[in-house]
Amino acid sequence: MESFLIKGGVPLHGEVTISGAKNAALPIMAATLLTSEPCVIRHVPNLSDVRFMGRILTWLGAKVSIEAGTVRVQAKKIKGQGDYDLVRKMRGSICIMGPLLGRLKQARVSLPGGCTIGPRPINLHLKGFEALGAKITIEAGYVQAAAKRLAGSTMFLGGRAGSTVLGTANVMMAATLAEGVTVIESAACEPEVVDLAKFLNAMGAKISGAGSPTITITGVKELHGAEHEVIPDRIEAATYAIAAAATNGEVTLKGARADHLHAVIDKLHEAGVAVKRQGTNLVVRRKGRLKSSDVTTLPYSGFPTDVQAQMMALMTLAPGLSIITERIFESRFMHVSELARLGADIEIEGPSAIVKGGRPLSGAPVMASDLRASAALVVAGLAANGTTQVNRVYHIDRGYENIDGKLRQLGARIQRVEES
Ligand code: EPU
Repeated sequence: MESFLIKGGVPLHGEVTISGAKNAALPIMAATLLTSEPCVIRHVPNLSDVRFMGRILTWLGAKVSIEAGTVRVQAKKIKGQGDYDLVRKMRGSICIMGPLLGRLKQARVSLPGGCTIGPRPINLHLKGFEALGAKITIEAGYVQAAAKRLAGSTMFLGGRAGSTVLGTANVMMAATLAEGVTVIESAACEPEVVDLAKFLNAMGAKISGAGSPTITITGVKELHGAEHEVIPDRIEAATYAIAAAATNGEVTLKGARADHLHAVIDKLHEAGVAVKRQGTNLVVRRKGRLKSSDVTTLPYSGFPTDVQAQMMALMTLAPGLSIITERIFESRFMHVSELARLGADIEIEGPSAIVKGGRPLSGAPVMASDLRASAALVVAGLAANGTTQVNRVYHIDRGYENIDGKLRQLGARIQRVEES
């Protein structure tokens, strides 16, 4: 297994190009299952999760090539069942279920379990499929949805924590090939859902309202091949912005979209960090001392849960009290104990972490537990005095393209080594 060795304390300076969004690319790759014609997806990040989705599509019978940021898929003939282990290993692969159900009227995949960020139920996905007329059965670790025909209907997909991103994506994909009109109320408004709808419409679907809580899908008989360019990764952009702020540097995020980052930019301003639009780039610069700030994660357009851990790492450096409340995933605080190894003072009180910031961090060996927690440890390591060893970086490679290379380009002293 590989680790990162980070010698902290170097302000980041320079330009970094933002990759395509993982969480847009994965459902868009799954959507290619809806047609037998070839599809081309560009600006796809080079990540292990993307290669994994490629393997799943191949297993289902599609021809897949992934090369230099371009994914080509042709799913001429496919089967309706995902490989048990492949699907179980990557939570995001649940989004093959909607396209399989739409195209074949049946889908069978392994039931995804929980993960380190908390339980990951799919009850809302299944509620949506049922509303389209599918019968759901769970047996031997598999969940199956099957229907003689899918018929559009109006459904409410809000849950305990609000809307569901992949649930909305899944039901939207199945509904493109249902008979009649489907209305999803309390739909997720994330830019990744909008990007998927754009791709589906390019394939001949009739979707309106994506980006709002009401999405309307008028079913069509079939979809055709299409080309698409994936949106820039707002979570990657936010992570580099926070790393620039944490190290007191100045970084230009090439291709980052300010309109996808309102909540993050607002909180960075509050914390004393300037984020300015410059053409198609964003320039991030810390303005003197960091200020403490309270953050609550919410569905889009609120502050993203996928940036909570990195923001917490930043707040450990800001003198005063910051309260960080996680409203999407109940146990997404695995980074807290690891940040404590670097000297951070953080207490968990229910869904909130109370950060007493301002003490300097000092390097230590830490363990990555999930993708965003690992990113937070890298941010903290970049700001800490001395050397931080972040173990198990395969978590990071799932979601950040060439993070060590990009950080080195910004002047960071970070090396990838075999775990000792
Ligand atoms: N939920 C339910 N029932 C469901 C589905 C979700 O109760 O059927 C709950 C979840 O337990 C959670 C909330 O709804 O409390 C939101 O979960 P959501 O379904 O929106 O999450 P997801 O679609 O499974 C995607 C991203 C996550 C990101 C979340 C929230 C992908 C591949 N994953 O997951 O990304 O945190 O949306 O924005 O798109 C990451 O990239 O690190 C990551 C975990």
